[in-house]
Amino acid sequence: MSSAIEHPPQREANSTGDCNSPLSASDSPLGNATYGATSDPACSSSHDAIYNTIYNYKVVRQFAIMTVVWGIVGMCVGLTLAAQLVWPQLNLDLPWTSFGRLRPLHTNLVIFAFGGCALFATSYYVVQRTCRVRLISDRLAAFTFWGYQAVILCALVSLPLGYTEIKEYAELEWPIDILLAVVWITYGIVFLGTIRARKTSHIYVANWFFAAFILTVAVLHIVNSAALPVTSTYSISVYAGAVDAMVQWWYGHNAVGFFLTAGFLGMMYYFVPKQAGRPVYSYRLSIVHFWALIMVYMWAGPHHLHYTALPTWAQSLGMVMSIILLAPSWGGMINGMMTLSGAWHKLRTDPTLRFLVVALSFYGMSTFEGPMMAVKTVNALSHYTDWTIGHVHSGALGWVAMITIGSLYHLIPRLYGHTEMYSVKLVSVHFWLATVGTVLYIAAMWVNGILQGLMWRAFNADGTLMYTFVETIEASVPGYAVRVLGGLCWVVGMVVMAVNVYKTARPVTDSRRLMPQTA
Ligand code: HEM
Ligand code: HEM
Repeated sequence: MSSAIEHPPQREANSTGDCNSPLSASDSPLGNATYGATSDPACSSSHDAIYNTIYNYKVVRQFAIMTVVWGIVGMCVGLTLAAQLVWPQLNLDLPWTSFGRLRPLHTNLVIFAFGGCALFATSYYVVQRTCRVRLISDRLAAFTFWGYQAVILCALVSLPLGYTEIKEYAELEWPIDILLAVVWITYGIVFLGTIRARKTSHIYVANWFFAAFILTVAVLHIVNSAALPVTSTYSISVYAGAVDAMVQWWYGHNAVGFFLTAGFLGMMYYFVPKQAGRPVYSYRLSIVHFWALIMVYMWAGPHHLHYTALPTWAQSLGMVMSIILLAPSWGGMINGMMTLSGAWHKLRTDPTLRFLVVALSFYGMSTFEGPMMAVKTVNALSHYTDWTIGHVHSGALGWVAMITIGSLYHLIPRLYGHTEMYSVKLVSVHFWLATVGTVLYIAAMWVNGILQGLMWRAFNADGTLMYTFVETIEASVPGYAVRVLGGLCWVVGMVVMAVNVYKTARPVTDSRRLMPQTA
């Protein structure tokens, strides 16, 4: 077992001599568990100054808060979609609120707004602390925040209005695509520039994952969005036919691999050791994990196009590469899990750690399920059914949302001069709501998926179909109702989180006098 590589910042930010700066607390993954930031509430007013002098925490806070906001909005849209499949009247007979328009709004909000803001917040936080240097430019960092929010607002307006390039996870029309490309390149400059300016000799492994995520998403977005503009709200893809499909799913799968996986693994490699108070189990394994993951992910896209016009050899290659992908995925999951060696007892009392560990379990589960679904014969059953939706949400809710929330519960108090959330009990309530919600959601979709797949391929003796399509929909309704319940648990949990975050972020008053920390 290797030791932690990340070193605590050596600089003492305590200029007054009266206050203990939060920055003087150990920031190694072995970090101590001190509480509060100052023994003197008067000093709390200087925290802003301290934080914003040493590191740029303003932009981290902004992205962290917006993660919670967009999480609630995106999941409410998801809940609406889930309810529409039980009660179609909720489409309201209006084009703007129809399932077809709200669905891409949901995916854009949860992946890019909720997940994206979380990745910005954590990557900016981690890179500064592990490189022991401030972001290279406050202005550029602020531009990434406001630019990214502008992209999300454009999505919020344009998607319900029906403006779309009709490419899944890349629906936004070309002017918004260009704005996003500019914001993303700026993000790359700020992040990589900060790594370049580091005061450490080593680049901590979390930064490798964040850097790969930023660079790859830039390439994916620019290549897949290449289009000929016709009007300001309409364009035509430069690719055609099977090539268009291949480029789209090269993008789509790597959006999963780099946006929904590599970036969140960066989070995992920083926040799991920090919260567990243990070094990364094997630093060597983390490096092998990194290179293996990014080399293999790129080739697995064709598993989204089984039994299509794509050449059969390309489909088979995608299948084989997907099966190989199990190895690096589980290598990383095991590395995260084993980081808890000697700290498992903390799970009894620490709900934040529980979020992180359950996230890893779901990561393991969805990366076992994915390769299985990539096998052509299995995909023949699962494709087009709710099994895919179940797989998506075991990754999206179980892995992406859980690791995000665990990381935010570690991060947010520290951004406001505490080491714990306002209420640990509410964190625990949130944990159970999220876990029960995820299990309800994915179990319902698994049952529905297998049911639909089997009903669609059931034949009578004379070769005619045993069930009509409508009969399979009717059989799916109980599963859809259970999903509404799961989604409701998630939305309530996110509201509980918002209250807790609000209370934690309030300025410190005498009644919330913080305990002194040991330096
Ligand atoms: C309250 C929580 C959520 C609920 C109730 C929910 C509900 C839904 C529903 C009803 C659909 C449409 C399924 C269909 O077309 O049949 C969907 C699709 C999707 N959702 Fe969610 N969702 C939630 C959270 C999330 C989160 C947090 C993420 C990502 C981080 C996510 C990612 C996706 C994706 C990627 C799809 C498209 C799946 C596909 O095309 O295969 N969802 N969601
Ligand atoms: C080893 C890792 C993984 C492999 C090999 C894999 C494989 C697959 C396969 C075979 C499908 C079904 C394609 C279809 O029939 O249309 C799929 C869909 C999907 N997976 Fe995974 N998966 C993996 C991990 C993950 C993770 C961790 C997430 C995180 C959220 C995720 C998100 C998705 C999404 C969003 C889709 C739906 C794409 C669509 O819109 O059709 N996957 N995956």
